[in-house]
Amino acid sequence: MGLVQKLTKPFIDTFVFVWDFNLFLLNVLLPAHKPGHVVPAGAPGHGGTWPVYIAPKDGDSRSACPMLNALANHGILPHDGKNITFKELNTSVRQTFNFAPSFCFFVPKFSADFLDRSYWNDKFDLADLSKHNAIEHDASLTRHDAALVPDQGKPDLQLVDELLKEATGKTSEGGALLTKKDLSLALSKRRYAARKTNEAYTESKFHNMFGSANSSTMLTIFGGRVDDLRPMLTDERFAPNWEPRILSRFGLTMAAFNGTVLPVERGIDVKKIEQQEKARQQPQSETVT
Ligand code: HEM
Repeated sequence: MGLVQKLTKPFIDTFVFVWDFNLFLLNVLLPAHKPGHVVPAGAPGHGGTWPVYIAPKDGDSRSACPMLNALANHGILPHDGKNITFKELNTSVRQTFNFAPSFCFFVPKFSADFLDRSYWNDKFDLADLSKHNAIEHDASLTRHDAALVPDQGKPDLQLVDELLKEATGKTSEGGALLTKKDLSLALSKRRYAARKTNEAYTESKFHNMFGSANSSTMLTIFGGRVDDLRPMLTDERFAPNWEPRILSRFGLTMAAFNGTVLPVERGIDVKKIEQQEKARQQPQSETVT
């Protein structure tokens, strides 16, 4: 990060958190969007009509983020995933997913900073966002670790399947629903497995929180609905007629999002998985000896 970015960061961060909290309060006070009207008129996906999906071609740039890849696959961001401005990323995430403007500024600005670029003037390719241990981290739910699979631009379909199989909830229409508990369990299993299989495995409080935050979007923006998550996580495409499940007028604020992220992170128990695994292996080793 350059000197100017370093000096201005504390002021910008404080401004963003105050802004976010104000939007959180306004969301409590003002009426929410009606279902079917969350994506603004004139924006791609308004009324559930998404631009056509085209799978990525050789040479297209894709990231470790399924949702941003979907924006490119539907042509909401450039289909080749290249030369995107940070401001463009801000707008498309806000309009498409109904995240609050504070979040939509904060994360692209954070990304510009870790790439040592200017949020205001510079561009990036989607693959740039996968810089290891910036936002991208080990023990993800949809990708094996970067040390094992350097191309983080594609989902691992077996991991996605294992994740969606964890869903224990039911929607009112009887569809499978991923809950906070399910997500904590899935993250516990991934952290345990990644520690065992990746010699270069690293973990920190900061990246664990990022892991819980990334995956908690599946519970908030996608309402945990497996029918909508499956096409998003496997093909990185929107389900027909999809719209964000967050109806708040000013979108999902970081303050409100913490109400999901913190319990998901608190519910992670890697030790328990380790003990279960040991108990599972013990009777087998006893029979062998
Ligand atoms: C605002 C710009 C965004 C940036 C720069 C960004 C970046 C990233 C990165 C680098 C990862 C990889 C993390 C890992 O190693 O697991 C990731 C994963 C993810 N992101 Fe994003 N993302 C953004 C917006 C979003 C939005 C709007 C959503 C949801 C609507 C979302 C949902 C996810 C999910 C579900 C994962 C996968 C987590 C996993 O595999 O465990 N992201 N994102």
